[in-house]
Amino acid sequence: MSWDERFAEHYDEWAAGMTEDVPFYVELAREADGPLVELAVGSGRVAIAVARETGRCVIGIDTSPAMLELARAAAAEAGVELDLRLGDMRELSLEEPAALITCPFRALLHLPTWADRRRTFERVAASLRPGGRFAWNAFAFDHHIASRLDRQHHDEPVAHTLRYAVADNRIDITLDGGGTSSLWWATKNEWLGLIDVSGLELEALYGGFDRRPLDDESREYVVVATRPD
Ligand SMILES: C[S@@+](CC[C@H](N)C(=O)[O-])C[C@H]1O[C@@H](n2cnc3c(N)ncnc32)[C@H](O)[C@@H]1O
Repeated sequence: MSWDERFAEHYDEWAAGMTEDVPFYVELAREADGPLVELAVGSGRVAIAVARETGRCVIGIDTSPAMLELARAAAAEAGVELDLRLGDMRELSLEEPAALITCPFRALLHLPTWADRRRTFERVAASLRPGGRFAWNAFAFDHHIASRLDRQHHDEPVAHTLRYAVADNRIDITLDGGGTSSLWWATKNEWLGLIDVSGLELEALYGGFDRRPLDDESREYVVVATRPD
């Protein structure tokens, strides 16, 4: 299972340290002329900021009822409009083509197989307007980090243990109090291949949210792809 409902209880604490992505996604939303969609919207961490900063509704899609409930409550508290939908990104279908589809905080890595990702990219390409953008981020696998973290217990940000299953390019996160989540890492060429097979075009591949170029020291892929006109 890639996402256990019990993770929701600790999600906001888990994600509290991740803030640098928000201005990047807000800026893309400001530039988008048309519907805004976030895949795997989770607790609305990014979508709420986008809705607040643009004054526009964000469609948020997620498979987790518990995460959507968090997003609903947080949006109400923030006084912003989110159109929250229970759904799987692999089955994305919109009434109106989007100007911007995003998938922040490595959420595409919750899809286990190439087929899952190809299907998602195809659905994204079919759901964008000509000239519309798809933006996401994912970590670059670093075996130094993996060997340091594998099977280790960590107290922060929520007590948990990490397990690397290298043959399956998978990381399992297990929270002490229960709740698991798995991520399947991908290489640069896998991301470029997904853009290629889905008929999108690479607009930018950054090495960070400050739009620095990707280089050998980068540990994050920050990607913007475009549906051709
Ligand atoms: C790391 S959270 C990301 C949440 C949010 N995008 C953020 O930036 O904080 C991952 C989310 O992906 C969702 N998810 C996992 N697989 C999914 C799928 N196939 N379709 C839609 N959502 C999915 C989980 O339910 C969870 O809410």
